[in-house]
Amino acid sequence: MKKVHFPEKAIFVCDGSKCGKHKEVRKYLKECLKENGLKNEVEIFKMECSDRCKHAPIFSVQPANLWYSETSHKDIDEIIANL
Ligand code: FES
Repeated sequence: MKKVHFPEKAIFVCDGSKCGKHKEVRKYLKECLKENGLKNEVEIFKMECSDRCKHAPIFSVQPANLWYSETSHKDIDEIIANL
């Protein structure tokens, strides 16, 4: 068995049919992580619909267990600042 390295923090991005339409927010998240030198410290995972479609797009920061709805670019800035 080989150990696999994963960053300690992860951001789960809902990729269901509603949240998946907000590709610009996901793209912005990736850009912000890169710009802030966090690309290797925070992993982004896509997740299936989390049943909160009315509040798309849904993001979740782990292991802090913070969940964000109707996530905007401004919210992404806040998420990054508080990682
Ligand atoms: S598509 Fe994201 S909560 Fe349903």
